[in-house]
Amino acid sequence: MEQAQPGPLMHPAVAPLAYLLGTWRGQGEGYYPTIISFSYTEELQFTHPNPRKPIISYAQKTWRSAGGPGAEPMHAESGFWRLKPDGSVEVVIAQSTGLVEVQKGTHDHEDKVIRLQSELVGNASKVKEISREFRLVNGELSYEVQMATNSTSLQPHLKAVFKKI
Ligand code: HEM
Repeated sequence: MEQAQPGPLMHPAVAPLAYLLGTWRGQGEGYYPTIISFSYTEELQFTHPNPRKPIISYAQKTWRSAGGPGAEPMHAESGFWRLKPDGSVEVVIAQSTGLVEVQKGTHDHEDKVIRLQSELVGNASKVKEISREFRLVNGELSYEVQMATNSTSLQPHLKAVFKKI
C-alpha cells in the first residue's frame, strides 16, 4: 500500500521569517506627547499553522508594568502576516480597542529588519497612520511603533524588546 508523502514543514515564502516563529516575552515603554509614559510586559506569538499557505498567525497581549501574566491586562491584538509573491509582506491586525490596520512593507532577510507602514487604519477615533518596525539583534526581537493622530504627527508610541521563551 502506498504511504502518504509527508508535506513540507514550512512554506518557502515563510522561511526567511522563520526566526519570528515561537513565543517571545519582553518589556516595553509607551509614550506620546499627549499622554503620561508607561511601561508594560508583552507576550508575542508567531505560528505557521499550514505549511501550504504563506501565512504567519500573530497574537500579542500586554500587562501593566513588569507584571506579566496575572497582572492587569492592557492592550491586545492579533492578525495575520501574509508573505506576497513579490517578496513584500502584508499584515492585517485587529486591536482590542476596535481599531483595525492593514500594514504593507518589506522584510530584509540579511539584516532581519521588517518595516511596515499602514495602508489602512479603520474604526479609529483619533489614529490616522501607524508604522511598525521589527528587528532581530543578537537573538533579541525588538519593535518600534509610531502613530499619527488627528492632532499629532507620526512619532513613537511604543518600543519593546523580547527574548524567545
Ligand atoms: C494612548 C493608540 C498600542 C497603551 C493612546 C492613544 C492612542 C493610542 C490614539 C491616545 C493618544 C492621545 O490621546 O493623543 C494606540 C495604537 C496602538 C497602541 C494605534 C498600536 C498600534 C498600545 C499598547 C499599549 C497602549 C500596546 C499598552 C501596552 C496606551 C496608554 C495610553 C495610550 C496607557 C494612555 C492612556 C489612554 O489614553 O488610554 N494609544 N495604542 N497602547 N495607549 Fe496606545
